[in-house]
Amino acid sequence: MARPELVPGEVLDGFLVEEQVHRGGMATLWRVSHPDHPQPMLMKVPRFGDSPDPAAIVSFEMEQMILPRLSGIHVPKFIALGDFSTPQPYIVMERIPGDTLYKRLADLPLPYEEAVGIGLKIATALDDLHRQSVVHLDIKPSNIMFRPTGEAVLIDYGLSHHDHLPDLMQEEFRVPFGTAPYMAPEQLLGTRNDPRSDLFALGVLLYFFTTGERPFGESETLSGMRRRLWKDPVPPRRLRPDYPPWLQEIVLHCLEVQPAWRYPSARQLAFDLGNPDQVKMTARAERLKRDGLATVLRRRFNNELMASRSRPDIASHLAQVPIIAVAINLDDANEALNEALRTEAARIAKAVPGARLACVNVLKLARLTVDHALNEEGHNKHVGRLAELKNWARTLGLGDESFTVHVIEAFDPANAILEFASSNLVDHVLIGARENSFRKTVLGSVSAKVAAEAPCSVTVVRPTRRRAGQDGEGRP
Ligand SMILES: Nc1ncnc2c1ncn2[C@@H]1O[C@H](COP(=O)(O)OP(=O)(O)O)[C@@H](O)[C@H]1O
Ligand SMILES: [Mg+2]
Repeated sequence: MARPELVPGEVLDGFLVEEQVHRGGMATLWRVSHPDHPQPMLMKVPRFGDSPDPAAIVSFEMEQMILPRLSGIHVPKFIALGDFSTPQPYIVMERIPGDTLYKRLADLPLPYEEAVGIGLKIATALDDLHRQSVVHLDIKPSNIMFRPTGEAVLIDYGLSHHDHLPDLMQEEFRVPFGTAPYMAPEQLLGTRNDPRSDLFALGVLLYFFTTGERPFGESETLSGMRRRLWKDPVPPRRLRPDYPPWLQEIVLHCLEVQPAWRYPSARQLAFDLGNPDQVKMTARAERLKRDGLATVLRRRFNNELMASRSRPDIASHLAQVPIIAVAINLDDANEALNEALRTEAARIAKAVPGARLACVNVLKLARLTVDHALNEEGHNKHVGRLAELKNWARTLGLGDESFTVHVIEAFDPANAILEFASSNLVDHVLIGARENSFRKTVLGSVSAKVAAEAPCSVTVVRPTRRRAGQDGEGRP
C-alpha cells in the first residue's frame, strides 16, 4: 500500500513540515523548521507511490549514508535523518537559497567568460568532493546550486559512489544509473568508482552552456547513449566560429571516451579553466570536423573501454596527479639556488610523473604607475620573464603538457605566491630560501612567510652546499 505523503503542518521528530518545494521521480522535498535549528532547512523523503521502486529506496539509503559523511562549503550541511526502521525515512539538510543551474538553460548559450567561471566553480567543488572519496555520478544543472558567496554546492547524492562504503547501487542493480545526456561512457558500462566520470559530465555541461547544444543529444535509449562510446561530438568551433580554441581544448579533453585521456583530476581541470592563457593546445583545439568514418568504425569494433572495477582507490589516484608550484626568483638571480630548485623540481617530476608543475615568478612592481611608457616597459618585462621561465622549465626535460609558466605582477611576492597557491588549489610549493642574510633581515624572507602561511605543504630549497657553513647563514 502507498505510504501517505507528508502533509504541511505535520511534525516529524520535532521538524515542522511546511511547503513542498520539489516533487521528483524518486523523492519529494519540503521546507521544514525546528526550534533547535535556526537555519533554513529542507527535508527530503523518498517517493514510494503505489508500488515501491527498489531503485528509489536503495538510492535514498545511499544518500543517507553519504551526506552525513560529507563536509565543507560545497555540499549542503547534513542535519538529521530518519532511517528505514522508522515509519517515515527522511533526510534533513541545509537549504541553499536561490535556484539550481537548471534555471539558466533558458539563457544558453552563455557568454564564454561566464560559462568558464561557472565551470571553474563546479570543478573546484568536484575536487573537494573527490578528495572526500566520493564520485557524484549525476552532475547536471539541476543538481548544482551556488551559495550567496559564489561557491558551487553539489546536491543530490542518490546515485553517488563512496569509496569506503558498500555500493548498494552497484550490488543490487545491473542497469547503469545516471542522466542520459551527461553520463560518461564507462558509467554506461557499469563503472561507478572513477572520479573522471564527473569530469565527463562537466564537459557535457560546458559544451551545452557554451554552444546551446548537447554534445550527445538527448537520446535515452541504451543504443542511443552507447554511441558516445565511439562517436565524437561535433567540435564546438563548428557550431560557433568564434569559439576560443583553448576552450574547445578543455571541453574536448573532458569529453574523451577513455577516462585516462581526460584530465586526471578536477583540480587540474580547474587549473586550466582558471588559467586560459596556459592551456596546452593539442589537435583538439583546432578541430572543425568529427573523426572520419574509419576512425569511428575502428573505435566501434575495437573498443578498449571496459568496465573496470580494480582501479586504485580515489585518494591514491589523486595523490599521483598533484599540482606543484615552483616559485623562482629571477630578480637577483642566484644561480646556485635556481640550480637547487631545478634539481628538486626534476626529482619530483620523475618520482610523480602525473604531477603538473606551475612555474611561478613574481615580477615585483616598484610603485603604481599610470604612465604609458612605463606600462609598455612593464609589458615587455612581463613577456621577457615568461620566456625566461619557459627556458628554465624546459631544462627539466618535461613534456610541454606537464608544466605551465606564470608571471605575476605584484608588490608583495610572498602574498602573490600564497594567493596563487590558494586560488589554483596547489598541492605543494617549492620555493628557494633567500641566501643573503642582510637582504633577508631588511626585506623579510619570502620563503619563510610562504612556508608559514601556505594552504598546502611547502619545501624550502637551499643551494647545495659546497662545504658546511658556506651558505652564508651560519646555520648547521
Ligand atoms: N539542499 C538544498 N537546498 C536547496 N534546494 C535543494 C536542496 N536539495 C535539493 N534542492 C532542490 O530540490 C530539487 C530536487 O532535489 P534532489 O536532491 O536533486 O532530488 P531528485 O533526486 O528528485 O533529483 C533540486 O533540483 C533543488 O531544486
Ligand atoms: Mg536531482
